[in-house]
Amino acid sequence: MLSHADNEALVRVGPGAPMGALMRLYWIPFYPADQLVADAPPKRIRLLGEDLVAWRDSEGRPSLVDHACPHRGAPLLYARNEECGLRCVYHGWKFAADGKVMDMPAEPERSRLKEKVRLKSYPCRERNGVLWTYMGPDQADPPPLPEIEWNLVPQENVHLSWRVQECNWLQALEGEIDSAHAAILHGRVDSKGAVNAWTQATDLRPVFECRRQPFGVSIASRRKLNEDTAYWRVNQFMLPFWTLVPPQSKFPELSGHAWVPIDDETTLCLMFSYTPAQPFYPRTRELMQQGHNGRETGHASLHSYAPKPPATPYADFWTKFTPQTAYQIDYDLQRTTWFSGLPGLWVQDAACQSGVAAIYDRTKEHLCVSDTGIAMTRRYLLENLAALRDRAERPAGAAQPETFLVRAVSLTLPVGTPWDEAGASFMRAEPGTDLGYAP
Ligand code: FES
Ligand SMILES: [Fe+2]
Repeated sequence: MLSHADNEALVRVGPGAPMGALMRLYWIPFYPADQLVADAPPKRIRLLGEDLVAWRDSEGRPSLVDHACPHRGAPLLYARNEECGLRCVYHGWKFAADGKVMDMPAEPERSRLKEKVRLKSYPCRERNGVLWTYMGPDQADPPPLPEIEWNLVPQENVHLSWRVQECNWLQALEGEIDSAHAAILHGRVDSKGAVNAWTQATDLRPVFECRRQPFGVSIASRRKLNEDTAYWRVNQFMLPFWTLVPPQSKFPELSGHAWVPIDDETTLCLMFSYTPAQPFYPRTRELMQQGHNGRETGHASLHSYAPKPPATPYADFWTKFTPQTAYQIDYDLQRTTWFSGLPGLWVQDAACQSGVAAIYDRTKEHLCVSDTGIAMTRRYLLENLAALRDRAERPAGAAQPETFLVRAVSLTLPVGTPWDEAGASFMRAEPGTDLGYAP
C-alpha cells in the first residue's frame, strides 16, 4: 500500500504537480504522424492535463498549440487551417506553427500587438511515423529525442496502436510490469490450453528479482520449467512512462507501451510491437489489426474503435471497451472458455487496470510477493520526484538519449544462473540486430 500523500504525488501530472514536472523533462509521443494531415482541421489533444490542439500546416510542419486563442479564448478546435497558418474563427487572428501571430485582421494596420502576443506552442518532432512533443522547461533548447528502439527501426518493422483508457497512467503501467497475472487473467478454462500457452503457465507462482537501472527498473520473474531449467521473463520500466515486454516463443517480437497521461484520469496507450532486424511479420500484423475470432490481441484492432465527437481529446482513439460497457464481459464464456470472460488480451488488461475508479485509493491495497516490481517502481519514481523537487536533480536519462537503448528479454537458463549476468548483452538494444537468442 501507499500513503495518501505518496499516491497523490505519483498520480497527479498537471502543471505544477511534482510528477507533472518529472514527465515534462521528457519527449512525449503524442500522435500518429499520418493522421495529422496538412491543411486539415485541427485535432483536440490533452496532454499532462493541458488542453491543446494539433494541426499540420501547408508545408507539412506539425504543430501543437494551446486550445485557447490568446485573444479572448475562443476554441482553436474551430480554427481554419489555411495557407500555412491556423486562423481563429472568432476575430480572425492567424498563427504560424511556432505560435507567432501572422495576422490580426480587425486591428489597425500600424498596431504592434502582433509582435507582443504569442500562442503557446510546444516543439514537435516527427520520427518514423510518430509525432513527439516536449512540454518541459527547456523550450528553447530541448534535449534530443530518446533513443527508444521501436522508433529507431524502419516503420515496416513496427506495428503501432493508439487507444484511450479511462484510468490514471500509473494504474495502466503497473499492469504491464506485473507478469504474475499473465497466466491467470489471460488463461482459458476449456481444454484448449492457454491462448498464450506460455511455458510459464505450468508454474503460476513466479519468483521475482528486481534491479534498479539507470533507465528505470528491471523486473525479472522466474518460473520453473523442470528440475534443471528456469524460464526468466524480464520486463522493463523506463522513465517516465514506458514499459517493455519480452518476446514469447509463439510471438517472437518485442513489445511495450508508452502510458501517456492525457490527464490524471485518462491515459493514451501507445502500444508498439517490432522486430529489430526485419520487416514485421505480415500475418501477425493482420492479426493485430483484425483481432482473432472476434477477440482483441494485445493491440487495439481496427474494429475496437468507437470515436467520440471532435471536441473530446483524442476523439479518434476511444474504444467500445470501457468501464461503462463493462468491457463487454461475457459471463457465459467465463464459465465455459476463458478464465476472465473478457474479450481479448488488452481488454482483459484494461478492465483490471482501470479498476473501480480512475484513480484507485492505494491506501486500501494489500501488496503481495508478486508485486515486488510494482513496489520498487513506485519507490524509484518517488525518489526521482524528491530529487527533482528538493535538489533540482534530473534523472540521468532525461538528457542522455542512449539511456533508453534497452530490450526486455525472456531466457531459458540452467537453474542457478543469474539472469542479470546471462541477460546483460541481450538487454542492450541494437537497432538492426536480432534478439541473439530464441525466445
Ligand atoms: S478569440 Fe481568437 S481572434 Fe478573438
Ligand atoms: Fe496482461
